[in-house]
Amino acid sequence: MCVCVCVFLLQTVTGTLALSVFTAVLGSLEFGYNIGVINAPQKIIEGDYNATWMYRYGEPIPTGTLTSLWSLSVAIFSIGGMVSSFCVGFVCASFRRKAMLINNLFAFIGGSLMGMSKLCRSFEMMILGRFIIGAYCGLASGLTPMYVGEIAPTSLRGALGTLHQLAIVTGILFAQVLGLESLLGSEHLWPVLLGLTVVPTVLQMALLPFCPESPRFLYIVRCQEHHAKSGLRRLTGRQEVGDMLAEMKEEKRRMDMERKVSIPELFRSSLYRQPIIIAILLQLSQQLSGVNAIFYYSTSIFMKAGVQSPVYATIGAGVVNCAFTVVSLFLVERTGRRTLHMLGLGGMCICAVIMTVALALLDSVPWMSYISMLSIFGFVAFFEVGPGPIPWFFVAELFSQGPRPAAMAVAGFSNWTANFIIGMCFQYVADLCGPYVFLIFAALLLFFLIFTFFRVPETRGKTFDQIAANFHQHSAGGMMDMDMSIADQNASGVDFTDIALNSSRY
Ligand SMILES: *[C@@H]1O[C@H](CO)[C@@H](O)[C@H](O)[C@H]1NC(C)=O
Ligand SMILES: *[C@@H]1O[C@H](CO)[C@@H](O)[C@H](O)[C@H]1NC(C)=O
Ligand SMILES: *[C@@H]1O[C@H](CO)[C@@H](O)[C@H](O)[C@H]1NC(C)=O
Repeated sequence: MCVCVCVFLLQTVTGTLALSVFTAVLGSLEFGYNIGVINAPQKIIEGDYNATWMYRYGEPIPTGTLTSLWSLSVAIFSIGGMVSSFCVGFVCASFRRKAMLINNLFAFIGGSLMGMSKLCRSFEMMILGRFIIGAYCGLASGLTPMYVGEIAPTSLRGALGTLHQLAIVTGILFAQVLGLESLLGSEHLWPVLLGLTVVPTVLQMALLPFCPESPRFLYIVRCQEHHAKSGLRRLTGRQEVGDMLAEMKEEKRRMDMERKVSIPELFRSSLYRQPIIIAILLQLSQQLSGVNAIFYYSTSIFMKAGVQSPVYATIGAGVVNCAFTVVSLFLVERTGRRTLHMLGLGGMCICAVIMTVALALLDSVPWMSYISMLSIFGFVAFFEVGPGPIPWFFVAELFSQGPRPAAMAVAGFSNWTANFIIGMCFQYVADLCGPYVFLIFAALLLFFLIFTFFRVPETRGKTFDQIAANFHQHSAGGMMDMDMSIADQNASGVDFTDIALNSSRY
């Protein structure tokens, strides 16, 4: 089976496609790195804030002020992400590759500010740097899946889309490992740790000029057929790209029929209401599954389990994280998005219940600590099978060109908002509920599972056009809808499994 997959990949992945995807997901790597980097050196950076305060005002920093400054340093990242993810729509309407190029300036400035903050004795620089890097990540979290989704052949769109998440978790793992006190997480080296984020930036800036602009974007938005063709030739390594162009033509024809869609319209129009609700709920299912809370809790649970250095167990969870993202990469085109998402949500729900029981019994039954450790690994593994990677590229798949940028903005905004809320509230709720906090997540997971079962369609192997048609078919009323649903009856006669296996289709 593995050999088959490899041969299949070799046939369809050209050098240019591989390079373009690699370059694009460097942005995701950086996103993950900045999520993970802030946890390990917390105490050391707090100490530096204190030292700066001493230097300026001649007295130790009040504990309350230090807590506020630190929370701000952590949380302002999500605020930057919220703001910029909302701008993804405007940016994408006119650029793809160039937007990624310009976005790197944010990363460069943000990384430099953070790296220099110790030298300049300024926590303001650190906080501003976190905000700017958050803004970078917000844009990257929209641009990367969109670009990758548009340059990938239909048969590989899911697998390549998963690479976004794989790069994120790899970034988190890098940050965890480099953040060890014996490496860069030390008193003198933490500015290097934070400043390292400029390395993928520089690499991406150097490589982007060699990547083709998204042909789908060039053709459908810019109407540059000639450029789109040459881009397609480079990406597929084939001279004959007429069939793919024909498919884009079809999408363009549809798009010319739809007006350009603004964000309020997404909610008002019956055509888009259902997919946008699905998109938002999928993003929420990712953040409200509690996976970030797990990462927060893991160290103390591992400590209770008698692990010598909980930091290494946390890194172990990071490894599980990466490993199962790879599993998802190979499964997503075989079993489909919907199935994997439900499998992930169901597994996480069960693990959360087991974890709650184990944590509640921890004091009376000592070996329960190992059960709780295993259920944490299970929880993380199931997260990466479905809810981790799938929502990111699923949104791009649910919408055709017209509404896609607006939809990506709304989805990104919901994701970052949920991220921010979990980051701010989890500690308080956990203090209130103790170990039973995970029952809340179990209930949420169950809700998302039921929702996915009844509402989320399968998109594996369908062209963007067919997916959009699927919704048009089910939405009620309107002249345009009727027109669409007639066209769709033809499209729905196509056997999607064949298309999935047909590597030549885009
Ligand atoms: C700040 O540093 C001083 C000594 O340099 C120490 O006494 C004080 O406890 C520190 N304050 C906090 C909030 O850590
Ligand atoms: C459906 O397909 C038939 C041929 O298979 C074609 O003649 C007809 O125009 C198509 N209808 C629409 C609405 O595309
Ligand atoms: C693959 O696509 C090409 C072009 O669209 C078509 O000619 C061929 O019949 C398809 N093969 C399969 C197995 O669907």
